[in-house]
Amino acid sequence: MGEMAQKIIKIDKDEIVKELNAAFAEEWLAYYQYWVGAQVATGPMRTSVTEEFEEHANEELKHAKWLSERIIQLGGTPVLDPENWKTVANCKYDAPLDPYVVTLLQQNLIAERCAVARYQKICDITFGKDYETYRISAKILKEELEHEQEIGDFIDDIDITVKHLK
Ligand SMILES: [Fe+2]
Ligand SMILES: [Fe+2]
Repeated sequence: MGEMAQKIIKIDKDEIVKELNAAFAEEWLAYYQYWVGAQVATGPMRTSVTEEFEEHANEELKHAKWLSERIIQLGGTPVLDPENWKTVANCKYDAPLDPYVVTLLQQNLIAERCAVARYQKICDITFGKDYETYRISAKILKEELEHEQEIGDFIDDIDITVKHLK
């Protein structure tokens, strides 16, 4: 528990812990969506796409770690039971039932856009009020924007390749 961490914030602690826990659950779901998607993927540019998925999965896991550290510092508890991830998260888990790479990329694009909105929201509510949560969220936001761009680029590249093959 960080006594000063809790004292200096100019925002309701429970409100920010709730947001951080939603983000935390979403990171785990994103991690697994990428990780398991990388295992089952089939189709064009599979090797490059799965490498990217595994890289993103590791970054989502790192985000979960940063969030859990901040939740604990603020006196909260990170979601303890994976059964609760889906109820706490706003960004939904989308199982890779169709293993075609473009379908997986599109599912992960939606997830990344949801993540961008999540961190944009946390940045908005902590700006000028909770500098440390703002710093962490802005750092994650930067990486989610990169993820969204990279996934979008893969979709565009596969699209161009498929068109040229016709
Ligand atoms: Fe993330
Ligand atoms: Fe991401």
